[in-house]
Amino acid sequence: MISVHLLIAAGILLWIRFLWSRRKLYLLSLQLPGSWGLPIIGIAAAYFIFYRRKISMRSKYMNKYGSTFLTWMGTMPVVLTRDPKIAEDVFTSSSCTNRSPHATNAIADAMGPGLITLQGAQWAERRKQMNPAFKHNVLVSFLPIFNDETRSLVSLCDSFVGQGEVDVLPDLIRWSFRTSTQTTLGTDVKEDENYKNDTILESFKSVVNITALSVLMPFLQNTVLSKLFGLEKKVKRDLSTIRSVMDKIINKKLKTKSVSTYNWDPEVNTVIHRAIELYQKDEISFSGLRSECSIIVVTAFETSAHTVYHTLILLAMFPDIQEKVFNEIKELLPTTEDLELTYEDLQQLAYLDRVLNESMRVITPVPIITRDTVEDLQLSNGVLIPKGVTITVDIFSMHRNPDVWGPEANKFNPDNFLPDKISSMHPYAFMPFSKGRRNCIGWRYGLMSIKLALVKILMNYELSTSFRYEDLDFVDNMVINLAKSPRLAFKRRT
Ligand code: HEM
Repeated sequence: MISVHLLIAAGILLWIRFLWSRRKLYLLSLQLPGSWGLPIIGIAAAYFIFYRRKISMRSKYMNKYGSTFLTWMGTMPVVLTRDPKIAEDVFTSSSCTNRSPHATNAIADAMGPGLITLQGAQWAERRKQMNPAFKHNVLVSFLPIFNDETRSLVSLCDSFVGQGEVDVLPDLIRWSFRTSTQTTLGTDVKEDENYKNDTILESFKSVVNITALSVLMPFLQNTVLSKLFGLEKKVKRDLSTIRSVMDKIINKKLKTKSVSTYNWDPEVNTVIHRAIELYQKDEISFSGLRSECSIIVVTAFETSAHTVYHTLILLAMFPDIQEKVFNEIKELLPTTEDLELTYEDLQQLAYLDRVLNESMRVITPVPIITRDTVEDLQLSNGVLIPKGVTITVDIFSMHRNPDVWGPEANKFNPDNFLPDKISSMHPYAFMPFSKGRRNCIGWRYGLMSIKLALVKILMNYELSTSFRYEDLDFVDNMVINLAKSPRLAFKRRT
């Protein structure tokens, strides 16, 4: 009898110790408004079952609880914010460079380790090693590839003329994939069977979708549950396709190119060369080399293709704005089909810049980013975020936050980026490429290739759609998805 009492007492003491160790988390829930959701699965049930990952759920919570609120993922609190001041606290803090392990583990499980998943000192070192591959002179050396690939895309658009409204996203994804493999991996995949029959793109799409699911529902990272839902088999099959394509590219490079140490020759400073150098110095394994290459390619082509697509559909929905973009291009550049655009050409198009920024404001390509605190973090609003808590910066909601962008925040209006207006905004109010030390390494690359594609498409075609702006509905994924994808009609300009 005494031993039973002792056991109960020991259990109560352990429980009190557990609660005491989490006291800062409970204090946090007293400082921030928010929802508790259901036990263990937090708010995941409502998010998946009732909202089907629609971003409107977060908007609803933010309208109810304010721009920064607390929710729970299982037993761990998650802070969500659309407040630029809080984002600034997070992105300028040296204790917030790690992404949430929920996200990095899911990506690393699928693709292996790489810049996007590494944490702490390992990430800082890898970022230093990869930075030279994104220097200005290297990016400018990609312009012939951007021009050539976009020329092929424009010729393809000719086949859409007179066809009514067509789905252009798959072709934009193919264009973007070919551009990014040639620039970052120095290899054209057009003759690869897996590219010709679309298996490589379908494999990437499937792995990205399943990874996004595991980020949003971390219990899927459990092997037993992943098997139960039939995900493990699918991921294995898709990864084997990705690996075979990547291995062919890498092995060819390993045979044909001796990789020298860092210098300013752009050819030697592409992503694949930087990664091969690490492999040859035994700093990463062959599978680490493959992971780094796959991760950079997928981050590059998914974001760029979707951003071009979003901008085109918005311009098709707003013909007056499309006409202004066309007039700017016509005034500043010769409108010949085989025009070879230069870096300087792309810098002149101030109105196109405003349109592209507004497109990335209302349909931000990467809707949320996460950070984990490695130490307690004092926010500027006085709230103390304890070590080990995930902070999710909701870029989508920040870009449409009426407290920041005004009562018309949801409207598409490129004048939001007029110099006077944008200079009066909080510097963290607009951040499609994130901010701080761990921002997007490819942001200049992305802007260059996206602008070039927009110029060439818009100078040759007038676009229209019957889809209404008000009917756009947004779904969370690594790169934002549309619940229904608008189709576009193409009319030749000349
Ligand atoms: C419209 C185009 C793009 C957008 C909107 C975009 C956006 C982002 C965002 C929001 C992040 C997360 C940063 C964070 O967690 O703070 C990111 C990270 C990253 N992006 Fe991009 N990106 C784009 C294009 C590209 C391109 C073209 C490349 C490569 C060529 C690239 C490579 C990466 C990599 C490797 C990371 C991880 C960086 C790190 O952890 O150090 N992105 N990007």
